[in-house]
Amino acid sequence: MRRLPHDNGAVMLTAEHGVAPGNAPLAHTARPVQGAAVIKDLWYKNAIIYSLNVGTYMDSNADGIGDFEGLARRLDYLHGLGITCLWLGPFQKSPRRDDGYDISDFYQVDPCFGTLGDFVDFTNQAKQRGIRVMIDLVVNHTSDQHPWFQEARRDPASKYRDFYVWSDRKPQNADEGMVFPGVQKTTWTRDPVAGRYYFHRFYDFQPDLNTENPLVLAEIRKIMGFWLELGVCGFRMDAMPFVIQTKGADRKQRERYALLREFREFLQWRRGDSIILAEANVEPKNSMHYFGDDGDRLQMMFNFWVNQRVFFALATGDTRPLVKALEQTRDHPATAQWGHFLRNHDELDLGRLTETQRAQVFEALGPDRDMQLYGRGIRRRLAPMLRGDRRRLEMAYSLMFSLPGTPVIRYGDELGMGDDLALRERDCARTPMQWSTEPHAGFTRAEKAVLPVIENGPYGFRKVNAADQRRDAESLLNWTERMIRMRKEVPEIGWGSFQPLETGHPGVLALRYDWRNNAVVVVHNLTGEVAEIQLRSVDDRGRQLINLLTQDHSRANGRGLHTIVMEPYGYHWYRAGGLGYLLERSSE
Ligand code: NOJ
Ligand code: CA
Repeated sequence: MRRLPHDNGAVMLTAEHGVAPGNAPLAHTARPVQGAAVIKDLWYKNAIIYSLNVGTYMDSNADGIGDFEGLARRLDYLHGLGITCLWLGPFQKSPRRDDGYDISDFYQVDPCFGTLGDFVDFTNQAKQRGIRVMIDLVVNHTSDQHPWFQEARRDPASKYRDFYVWSDRKPQNADEGMVFPGVQKTTWTRDPVAGRYYFHRFYDFQPDLNTENPLVLAEIRKIMGFWLELGVCGFRMDAMPFVIQTKGADRKQRERYALLREFREFLQWRRGDSIILAEANVEPKNSMHYFGDDGDRLQMMFNFWVNQRVFFALATGDTRPLVKALEQTRDHPATAQWGHFLRNHDELDLGRLTETQRAQVFEALGPDRDMQLYGRGIRRRLAPMLRGDRRRLEMAYSLMFSLPGTPVIRYGDELGMGDDLALRERDCARTPMQWSTEPHAGFTRAEKAVLPVIENGPYGFRKVNAADQRRDAESLLNWTERMIRMRKEVPEIGWGSFQPLETGHPGVLALRYDWRNNAVVVVHNLTGEVAEIQLRSVDDRGRQLINLLTQDHSRANGRGLHTIVMEPYGYHWYRAGGLGYLLERSSE
């Protein structure tokens, strides 16, 4: 069994002050890989992922809806920002009652976004810039308008009948297990045409596919194979735990983890460097089932467990539950990776905090009822949650970039975009990208945009937009670009092993990363107060800390202690070791 950590990456750095010193002794904190070396070109280990929806990014033909041609025109912006991989929300044919997570044809681009030709043109243009494209794979369910479901409900003899999950009567537990409680009333709805009940984990217009049916699995493989041929590098797999669960009236639910290996094998046979990034909000004790003990299942998972405790720390200034969560999710195969994020396209789900913790986050970050959703989450964007406080925003982003894994940014957060709570459910955080001060923020030349652009208040597009921010060296956009550059130059975080360092202050988190004879230390002050901390250097190299952001370096005293003064919401990134080290290539 091969587990973290590892010393096996391919990435090396360009020399600049403080970057990757080489000839230091092997850090004793880095545990070497057991057995054969891991393949060194796992691109997702040091990637910068950016998530967006085609429909709200850039409209090229003035119909008010973003499209692939518009997105293609914005690739230089994304390239300039430094992102290396895009994750696109669903864009296949769909009635769009759940922002496209209700697909009615898996093999078509919804005409409102363009054609398959536009899609391939876009993936090719992304490739020219070294940007990979990952897409959502939504196969837990289809739209009720999908021809499979239409056929299934009409004809009991159709092969599609068994594509879905049916029951003659309403199961006893039908009113349990809704994913959108409060909005969704049940998980079993009677279809008048079939005269039977069908199972839907999500809304009633999203009937669940029966993934125990080999024909359904064959279709899932076909869908993956199709999009791989068109240039994608992998899939963000929607609702993964539900995809692999046994489904059916009064049946005991069981996860069929073996399916994960099948998906992966198929993917890697068709395209060796393609990956699955799973949406699986599961407890840490179950995550290894998803990664597989030998790294033979999924390459990536979002770390929801850590995400919720990051927000707890942002809300309360207490980093202890976060440190614990990092420890609890430490274990993963050497080839696997966590995806870390702040906000995503859904509500900030706080369902895995204790009731008291959740109440504290609600109170600090989303006190009003209409800021909350499904009784467990907050639907606001990051910037308004942090009251637009630039210090807190930078610290939150810096923290996310320095968590053990790969960062996933949400479009518009690089500008500090806000939300529109007048929009329903999660739409409030899905408003069009704010490009400029032109009408509709330069997103569209149409009279009306698909979702209204934020016009007024501190987050209105006249105040928050990309065009203004790119001219301002100190803008959040340019800050983010610099952070991304630095994050890429610190591959220890994506590839290495971490250890929390004792700071003696619950509000200050210090993490040290070791990888390939290099080490970095990142320190974050989650509180609004100045905090003086002491850090003990783990080894000789740790006695000298080179600040990667300022000239404020630190040398340990005779007892090996650093005294560091953290500004309110301060963040420091240090490389351990002196200046003037030579870069060292990997010792194979
Ligand atoms: C999870 C997605 O993130 C969410 O947006 C969607 O509504 C559900 N899955 C159903 O597909
Ligand atoms: Ca359009």
